Parts: sequence; structure tokens; C-alpha cells
Amino acid sequence: MNYHEILTNGTSYLKKNKIKNPYLDTELLLSKTINKKREEILLNIYNKVENREIEKFKYYLFRRRQKEPIAYIMGYKYFWRYKFLTNKSVLIPRPDTELIIEETLNYLPIHNSKKILDIGTGSGCIIISLIKERPKCKATALDISLKAIKVAKTNAKLHQLENKINFINIDIDKYKSSNYDLIISNPPYIDNIDFNRLEDDIKSHEPKLALSGGSDGFKNINKVIIKSRKLLKINGKLILEIGHKQKNKTIKMLKKNSFYINKVSKDFSKTDRCIVSTRLK
Ligand SMILES: C[S@@+](CC[C@H](N)C(=O)[O-])C[C@H]1O[C@@H](n2cnc3c(N)ncnc32)[C@H](O)[C@@H]1O
Repeated sequence: MNYHEILTNGTSYLKKNKIKNPYLDTELLLSKTINKKREEILLNIYNKVENREIEKFKYYLFRRRQKEPIAYIMGYKYFWRYKFLTNKSVLIPRPDTELIIEETLNYLPIHNSKKILDIGTGSGCIIISLIKERPKCKATALDISLKAIKVAKTNAKLHQLENKINFINIDIDKYKSSNYDLIISNPPYIDNIDFNRLEDDIKSHEPKLALSGGSDGFKNINKVIIKSRKLLKINGKLILEIGHKQKNKTIKMLKKNSFYINKVSKDFSKTDRCIVSTRLK
């Protein structure tokens, strides 16, 4: 079979199995199989594929048919300006989360050397992107999942930041080191009803620990706010990602814990997604 035939067959197989973006996914999987860029495939569309590679391609296609996210099969995902290794131990970095980076950079002039904490680092995509942009800052990143910490450390190494970010496998409840200038967090915030409505790609493949915020979705948001008050310096900033419909209650929690609300910003789909706040006392 040649590239063209493989793309045609693969696309119709995924389409039949109701996979979104069947052509794009097939092209990506073929590119992984033969280790060539997508442009090279399109420029050499009648090149033959070896039988051994066809078997490999079928295996990837089968995984996609089982709704495994393309980022897990490919083994990476782009976030901000960088490439991050991803596997089933970590949440796949989302474009909406780039809002945290944008907002944080507004509060971090380029030559500043602030002390930053990332709560629930997952793949490490937020803190690694930030330290790439603000190399004078010092960072700690923690996660309750040891497997996630291993992925984050590997990503830090890939971006030559292994000596600049201190990764710790710990529950935020037990973390005590304080005096941070800035805390960022994208905590698990999906409530039980929305969790059950998630697409299979997400619900059956991404770690529940990274998604579920308990029955009302606020379990971790609440923890992060209460803990941040203790860990931040006075006037330190907390920059938090939230779910749709969580703005008002989160603002209430922040105010109750002596935070001033600087800004609420919206994501690409005009949903309130990120709250910037300051610890007042
Ligand atoms: C929504 S994911 C965010 C991952 C990454 N920061 C991102 O934005 O792609 C939340 C992360 O918080 C971690 N987590 C959940 N509960 C935690 C806890 N009590 N203490 C520390 N980390 C926790 C999860 O393991 C997961 O990696």
C-alpha cells in the first residue's frame, strides 16, 4: 500500500467508528508510523509503506478507534511555544490553559526573579513554559501523582530546566514551604455531573485525579485558595484556572480568604477561565 491508500483506508475506518477529525488523525498516525513529517507524506503520496510499518499503523489506528486521545498515541502535545511529552499519567495540556501563561507573564516583568509555585503540575506544561519565558524566576512544582511528577521532570529535562524547577511529589494539603511571590494552579475542577457527561476520549483515558473536583467541582479550588493564603507573601498573586460556571463561587471563596480580585479573563470560547487575585493580609 502507498501513503495515499493508507490515508484513504485509515480515514474511512475512523469515520465509520465515529472518531472526530478522521483525516487529520490518520495523517498524524501515519507520520508517527513512518517517522516522517506530514508535509513529506503529502509530497510523496504514492510512496510505498513496508508491511512491518502497516502493522504498526494498524495498531495506532486501533488505539484511536478505542478513543484513546491522539496526544497519548503520538506521545506529545504542543502547549504555548513548546512540545511536551504526554502519557496517560497526565492531563493533556489544553489551549485554554495558555491563558494562565498570558496572565502570569503580564505580572512578571522579564528581568524579575520571583519565587513561583505551581500546584498540580501534571505534565509540567505551565511552569516549564513560564520559566522558559522568565528564566530568572525560581520555581517549585508539586503534584500528588508520582507518575505525573516523573513526566514533568522528563519534560523539564527536555527543555534544559531540570536544575531550575524543583518537582515534589506531595499532596498540597501537606506542603508547608511558604513565602511565594506567585502561585499558579489549574486544579481538577469538574463536578460529578459534568464528569459523567465528558466525551469517552477524556473520561476513559485521562486521569480522573486530574479532572474531578468532587461532587460540586470545588474541592480542589477551595484547597488551593486556603493553602495559597498561607504559602503566598502578602501582596503575592494567585493565578487560578476555573471551570465554566465557577466564577462567582470562586470569587466568594477568594474574598473570604482575604484575596483582592484583580482580573477575570475569558478563554477562546468566551468562557470565564482564569482569575488573577492578590493576597491582601
Ligand atoms: C487539571 S490537572 C493540571 C495539570 C497541568 N497543570 C495542566 O494544566 O495541564 C490537575 C493536577 O493536579 C493534581 N492534583 C490533584 N489533587 C492534588 C492534590 N491534592 N495535591 C497536589 N496535586 C493534586 C493532579 O494529579 C493533576 O496532575
